[in-house]
Amino acid sequence: MLMISAAMIMHGRSADNDRKMDRFIDGLMEKMSVEEKIGQLNLPTAPSDIITGPARESDIAGLISKGQIGGLFNISNAAKAREIQELAVNSGHGIPLLFGLDVIHGQKTVFPIPLGLSATWDPDAIERMARISAIEASAMGINWTYSPMVDISHDARWGRVAEGSGEDPYLGSRIAEAYIRGYQGDLTDDDEILACVKHYALYGAADAGRDYTASDMSRYRMFNWYMEPYKAAVDAGAASVMSAFQQVEGVPCALNRFLLTDVLREKWGFDGFVVADYNAVGEAVNHGMGSLEEVSARALKAGLDMDMVTGGYVGTLGKALKDGLIREEDIDKACRRILEAKYRLGLFDDPYRFCDTENPEDKIFTPEHRAEARKIAAESFVLLKNDGILPLDRKARIAVVGLLADDKANMLGCWTVGADKDSPVTVLEGIRSAVADPSAVSYSRGSNLFYDPDMDRVSRNQGKDVDRDPRDAGEMVAEAVEAAKQADVVVAVLGEAAEMSGESASRVDLTIPDAQRDLLKELAKTGKPVVLVLCTGRPLVLDWESENVDAILNIWFPGTEAGLAVADVLFGDVNPSGRLTMSFPRHSGVMPFYYNEVPNGRPTDGRWVKYASCYMDTDWTALYPFGYGLSYTSFAYSEPVVEKAAYSLICEDGKYGLDSPVRVSVTITNTGKRAGTETVQLYVRDMAGSVGRPLRELKGFEKVALRPGESRTVEFTLTADDLSFYTQSLDRIVEPGEFSVMTGGSSSDVKTAGFIIK
Ligand code: NOJ
Repeated sequence: MLMISAAMIMHGRSADNDRKMDRFIDGLMEKMSVEEKIGQLNLPTAPSDIITGPARESDIAGLISKGQIGGLFNISNAAKAREIQELAVNSGHGIPLLFGLDVIHGQKTVFPIPLGLSATWDPDAIERMARISAIEASAMGINWTYSPMVDISHDARWGRVAEGSGEDPYLGSRIAEAYIRGYQGDLTDDDEILACVKHYALYGAADAGRDYTASDMSRYRMFNWYMEPYKAAVDAGAASVMSAFQQVEGVPCALNRFLLTDVLREKWGFDGFVVADYNAVGEAVNHGMGSLEEVSARALKAGLDMDMVTGGYVGTLGKALKDGLIREEDIDKACRRILEAKYRLGLFDDPYRFCDTENPEDKIFTPEHRAEARKIAAESFVLLKNDGILPLDRKARIAVVGLLADDKANMLGCWTVGADKDSPVTVLEGIRSAVADPSAVSYSRGSNLFYDPDMDRVSRNQGKDVDRDPRDAGEMVAEAVEAAKQADVVVAVLGEAAEMSGESASRVDLTIPDAQRDLLKELAKTGKPVVLVLCTGRPLVLDWESENVDAILNIWFPGTEAGLAVADVLFGDVNPSGRLTMSFPRHSGVMPFYYNEVPNGRPTDGRWVKYASCYMDTDWTALYPFGYGLSYTSFAYSEPVVEKAAYSLICEDGKYGLDSPVRVSVTITNTGKRAGTETVQLYVRDMAGSVGRPLRELKGFEKVALRPGESRTVEFTLTADDLSFYTQSLDRIVEPGEFSVMTGGSSSDVKTAGFIIK
């Protein structure tokens, strides 16, 4: 067993520490056999009830003692982690294990789903969320989270949009950096854990939005629309990257040398390790790439360091070496990267640093964490419509309707393996706790999720099943309608169940499930004001709802403090400030759909015109566009002012600069009667390019809190980088010419100015 002198080894990044690390790892690897090196590349799951893919059996203790495991997936208990770590430390070379888990939007304290988090447009809040997640996860033995997911998606049919930050690469990049800062810090404290950027790459562009299908596209599109958030996370110091399941350019991502080596390592300089997604190496056999030995060898050579769950590496790389499919240096390279991550995490210093079993409750689900979750949840809600009924009067008689109003587990959303399913505050509880007289708040369920009992299966996973009410549909609706008639206002909490988005949850029909939608129609017929509180993990089609209900508050899936945060906003203690990060379409058939598209030769305003770019049967423009969201107050924008009319472009050694940054200022005034926060957005259009340039691209945003009547001038600074794009040959360039700059409160409500680059 290797003797490691505690506290002798400094982790953290510096040239000096890197030299020490290299010496340490050289020494260690000299002593390791090929089998032990291959062992470091193996990441099985611990036997557990947490399953995120097809289950696989393995004798973990046996594998650890033979040095055949580099990390373990699924442990979330500090005592258990300590016990397993002891096994590793006391066998072979005593190399400690990584303990990885999906800590996605909170561990015990659950925050809104990532799509909701992105709607805060508040990277600082997301960093705080990630910090709290790391504190809670590390107190439970976890030292590596499979987060953030930074996949851009243009397709709301794909259920995993719930786990991402929407459709925009600029916002997605700022958010990606925030997650990394929050989880990792500088990896020197015992509550800073490794992040894992996923799913590299282009997973969000799955064909037709069907999970796991190929996502193919030109490199021009790949780099201009999809790649930036991965790169931003890498630049922010992400310690690991997870390769995606699907094929890109005909090669599964886990085997894709262009992605894993040419771009990630050589172009972007990534020096962490790459792990495959769950069983992705094994699934390359299903992709028709050859035998398990062949795909494993190919993955290793492509640049994939760690095999999650398949056992392909540990089972076949030894033979592949003998068969000449790989070289020992391929194994060494991958092994070194994993050992480096362990070193940087401080595990060689103290293998038990994340296994502190003393008072974990002081760090988990604390009142401070819950208060932060409540605040961030309220900040994530997007007010889509308000005819003036919101905020509600606390003395009103309220009919709360809908199965999701009285549901705890579904408030957690789709990715919360560590949370207690009964921990959330329901919307009904939240409303009752906020009103003057709780008995003035009635509750009726109103419907099941869908009419068809078979469709209820979409809610079944991870203890979030929506129970079925055996009553007749008409009887349930009649009860809700009667309650509505007795009330001053109806709050209908409807939408998707949590498991209708997330992994393996693609949908083609993006409307509210049928039974609930019909219920809403009956409630509207009562003539009582109806507030739709919408639960969803994706943009939905809300054409009927937008015309027929009085207010729509989109709450996504808000997490453990759901009901309290909803009450904060419904009763006006918090003025809603969330903004959409994915466009809401008018019809499911318009997918893929996104605001930053390139011009075409036959534009329309959305309506049908023969021989123009449109649909015969729907207006194709967004019902609620990217960047959109209302407030209980109103804001007025001045015209944007660009400091200078023209700027000179400087290009030296392929690097672009401007003679001075482009400064754009705009003044925003709160013209309403309440204090509120506006998300001021800046978009740019390069008016003529050698390749298609988007009609508008987000290049800046700032949240501004304003009292009634107050004005503030916001100044944005654009650099050459903000004006650059990738050409067909993947050079990142800036072209001289005319640029438009647009400022406003949503991508489709802007005022425009311009400047020239000479
Ligand atoms: C599959 C998912 O695609 C990925 O996001 C997750 O991290 C792994 N399973 C592990 O649970």
